[in-house]
Amino acid sequence: MPRLAGKTAIIIGAGQSPGEGMGNGRATALLFAREGAKVLAVDHRLESAKETADMVTKEGGTCVPFAADVTKEATLKAAVAEAMKLWGRIDVLHNNVGVSLAGGDASPTEITEEAFDRVNAINLRGTIMACKHVIPIMRKQQSGSIINISSVAALSANYPTVAYKTTKAGMVAFTEQIACQNAEYGVRANAILPGLMNTPMAVDTRAREWGKPRAEVEAARNARVPLRKRMGTGWDVAYAALFLASDEANFITGIGLLVDGGGSLRKE
Ligand SMILES: NC(=O)c1ccc[n+]([C@@H]2O[C@H](COP(=O)([O-])OP(=O)(O)OC[C@H]3O[C@@H](n4cnc5c(N)ncnc54)[C@H](O)[C@@H]3O)[C@@H](O)[C@H]2O)c1
Repeated sequence: MPRLAGKTAIIIGAGQSPGEGMGNGRATALLFAREGAKVLAVDHRLESAKETADMVTKEGGTCVPFAADVTKEATLKAAVAEAMKLWGRIDVLHNNVGVSLAGGDASPTEITEEAFDRVNAINLRGTIMACKHVIPIMRKQQSGSIINISSVAALSANYPTVAYKTTKAGMVAFTEQIACQNAEYGVRANAILPGLMNTPMAVDTRAREWGKPRAEVEAARNARVPLRKRMGTGWDVAYAALFLASDEANFITGIGLLVDGGGSLRKE
């Protein structure tokens, strides 16, 4: 029996940044659909969400693309309404959108108000606004699983840039809050904290920003991972999300699941 049989999922940030390989959001959409979920693939770049939906459809799954910008609450509300119109329930909300350097993030002594507000609106406020519109539905259903994609940056005291770190830490705090406040309704909320992943968002963006070849950025990141000296992939995040979305995680709420190849065990 597929692990998400009969379930519906909204994945926000289900498209993909330009670059090589598979991102976390796209891998999650493909995997959820393979495991039987009907997926609303939400992204502000509709063409990218459509690419994801086409990949799912080619494999025989159900995935509908939808345009929404997480910085605009009304568009998130519309995405939630669309899922309800299509399928009448929302079992899983997966908040994947996140930017760092692409949002203009910088060190605490170089950050601008504009860049901080932009990253905050995309990473943290967007997640909060999506949950605002889904939680009442899940409460009524007396079930649901919310998955927020944070980052090990939330835990790293020495992280180089400030907006990404603090918004990802805020996502962990917010996840705990909604887990606690919705437990009595049977609604679960968990965060995933990916470490160094070999995704276009992380590797290609840095290569572009730093003017370095992709292979050089990739090798430097691989060397920092304790497990096999190799970054994780979008599929590693997707499988963690699949578990948290499924009924196998029925008694798990309020956690921050590290998916980092032991990266946070380093003592430096
Ligand atoms: N790759 C890593 O090394 C790593 C590590 C830790 C955490 N993460 C987290 O994983 C998540 C992203 O992973 P990914 O590989 O899928 O990235 P991605 O950039 O490929 O996908 C994110 C999607 O979000 C969309 N998006 C961006 N801004 C948006 C907005 N305002 N409204 C709607 N959609 C918007 C993008 O168009 C893109 O399709 C982020 O939350 C990131 O912080 C990644």
